[in-house]
Amino acid sequence: MNDIRQRMLEGKQVEGCEKCYHEESLKYTSQRQLLNQWFSEWLINDNLLPWKEDSDSLFEEINDLNWVEIFKNTPIKLQWLALHGSNICNLACRGCYSLLSTKWRKDEIKLGINPHPTNDPDIDWYGIDIASIDFITMFGGEPFYMKQSEQLIDKVEADPNNKILQYFTNGTVLPSKQTLDVWKDIRKLILYISVDAFGEDNDYFRYGSDWNTVEQNLQFYISEGAKYNWEIKVSTLINIYNVDKLDVLHNWLVNKGIQDTAIMYNLCIYPQELDIRNLPQEYKEELIEQYSTINLPNNVKSVVQKHLEMEPNLSSFIVVKAFSEKLDELRDQHNPNIKLERYIKNDSFK
Ligand SMILES: C[S@@+](CC[C@H](N)C(=O)[O-])C[C@H]1O[C@@H](n2cnc3c(N)ncnc32)[C@H](O)[C@@H]1O
Repeated sequence: MNDIRQRMLEGKQVEGCEKCYHEESLKYTSQRQLLNQWFSEWLINDNLLPWKEDSDSLFEEINDLNWVEIFKNTPIKLQWLALHGSNICNLACRGCYSLLSTKWRKDEIKLGINPHPTNDPDIDWYGIDIASIDFITMFGGEPFYMKQSEQLIDKVEADPNNKILQYFTNGTVLPSKQTLDVWKDIRKLILYISVDAFGEDNDYFRYGSDWNTVEQNLQFYISEGAKYNWEIKVSTLINIYNVDKLDVLHNWLVNKGIQDTAIMYNLCIYPQELDIRNLPQEYKEELIEQYSTINLPNNVKSVVQKHLEMEPNLSSFIVVKAFSEKLDELRDQHNPNIKLERYIKNDSFK
């Protein structure tokens, strides 16, 4: 960790952070840049920016900061805890794996992969004084499906006023009443609901999900969020199954009341089988054409087009087909994306 910090302070690249560097090379604002900007505002000016104000011009405005200079007189204290809590999840999304979802274990075994174990410690196990940290993010697993989010709320409840809580949820499980009550007293709630497509396409990708429940819960969060000034966001993974339909989801979300800039698009780089770079050339060209007029924010259009223009990083589309077909077979699923399925079933695309 010390080596990583030192390299970052020296402005050098760090192994494992390739996704951000890749996005930056495509002139797309990366999480690294957004977090640097958000943290500097919070820690220096005590100002909570909207978590992601993405725009065409943001990339130009973000510069790497001289953190050593800025914080030279500040005592060292843990400011942010990114808590995975547990890998217990009720879904097995196609882009995920058993390190982050226990529901993937069964299929990984069938695929000949040695799965990650279930990891379910009480949050005290980490030995961190959680009550003293103002900003905590809960990833997962599914936060509202695991005991750790209740344990977190028990700690926050005693002194909620300065707390900033951020969660990533799959939208299928609502938090407890106690959690909802405590959220009303904290300084800021930033809630990311992960949705990868509209309707049955979402249920297909987010295996185990039920669209009606997601829609209802999203509506609940939007209306409660308006009352209590919660930041309600959506996180969407751009991948082979949804790339041709992102506009449908985006415009549906905007009509529901989610702001354009509150939808965070993430490029799928891993697993490589879901990376849009590995689609057949003919389909990529069709998509590039579609993206010239698609109704999406310019920065999203641009990053997708640039990514599609890149060379595949798998030896063949056969690897993509095999992954998709094998999972369909194991899960008894049928790909609702007819266009993609035509390419998958057509043996001339290799
Ligand atoms: C792994 S999930 C766990 C939290 C919660 N269960 C959820 O669904 O949001 C956290 C975030 O990672 C994103 N994600 C999933 N697979 C990914 C991948 N292969 N690459 C990048 N992000 C991914 C999801 O879209 C989600 O927003």
